[in-house]
Amino acid sequence: MSTQAQINALEKALEKELNMCQKFAELNDIKAQYLGKKSQLTDLMKAMKDSTPEEKRELGQYINQAKSTFNAMIEAKKTALEAASVRAKLNQETLDLSLPGPDYTLGQSHVLTQIIESIEDLFVGMGYVIKEGPELESDAYNFEKLNLPKDHPARDMQDSFYISKHTLLRTHTSPVQVRTMLEYGGKKPVKIICPGKVYRRDDDDATHSHQFMQIEGLVVDKNTTMSDLKGTLRIVAEHLFGAQREIRLRPSYFPFTEPSVEVDVTCAQCHGAGCPMCKHTGYIEILGAGMVHDAVLEASGYDPKIYQGFAFGIGVERLAMLKYGIEDIRNFYINDLRFLKQFK
Ligand code: DAH
Repeated sequence: MSTQAQINALEKALEKELNMCQKFAELNDIKAQYLGKKSQLTDLMKAMKDSTPEEKRELGQYINQAKSTFNAMIEAKKTALEAASVRAKLNQETLDLSLPGPDYTLGQSHVLTQIIESIEDLFVGMGYVIKEGPELESDAYNFEKLNLPKDHPARDMQDSFYISKHTLLRTHTSPVQVRTMLEYGGKKPVKIICPGKVYRRDDDDATHSHQFMQIEGLVVDKNTTMSDLKGTLRIVAEHLFGAQREIRLRPSYFPFTEPSVEVDVTCAQCHGAGCPMCKHTGYIEILGAGMVHDAVLEASGYDPKIYQGFAFGIGVERLAMLKYGIEDIRNFYINDLRFLKQFK
């Protein structure tokens, strides 16, 4: 058989074997068998040594061509096997989109934040501006300019954390009244609410905490009257506790207002008939308020002969407790998710 015929036969045989081959490992054996040191192709090379130079050139060409053809055939098979293995793997790993996804729990704002934001919305809708003040406050703003001079007995109601002789953790949000009036320079009308944290040296129990939150309100203008205050408070009561709430103003005392009032709202549970929630009075106390004292207007640069104002202070925790029937103020601060999740 001629060398050419032998090569053709080898190519046929290789093609047959490649067609049957299913695994990479077998492919290596085939490569060794057809192109390796002990292959027939190598034998044919060795056999050339007895040939004439012309024959050698011709045979060498055949054999080299055969080598590259065989190599290409084996490489093509290798690529095909690789593609098949990737396809098989992909088929095995198909993504089942019908599976439910992982359960991400959505957070929510704290119940106190919810109440503050809802009151902010109400007041912003009535043209109020939201103001903030520092929690570390001077004695002058926290007390003196609010008509609570040194040694005034009413300071005792707000037992305080002093940081230095003249600096304390603010005991109420009322100093933001003073800050805003000074900022406005005694000229512009004022219409603000100020939410924020306040601090008192209270023993912590079910209804007291050394730190709690308030929302202060202040309106100062040239024709501000007590009926403006009453109308505003009624809107607040309805917003918080539902329509058809009645409010009641009781005389009270705050150094920074004159006259001063405590504001009660008809009980949301019994509508005024009397029940355990309102301790059988029909009313629930929700905030302190009054007409801004002349001394406060003066200390903050407003002329009381031209300007009058009303102010109020809301305790946020107390409101939340009344609204949701929460019995212990400490629940707001201990971050128990079982409590917090109820206010989604
Ligand atoms: N600052 C008072 C407090 O913390 C609450 C208060 C009462 C604020 C009457 C006011 C007000 O603006 O007019 O007890």
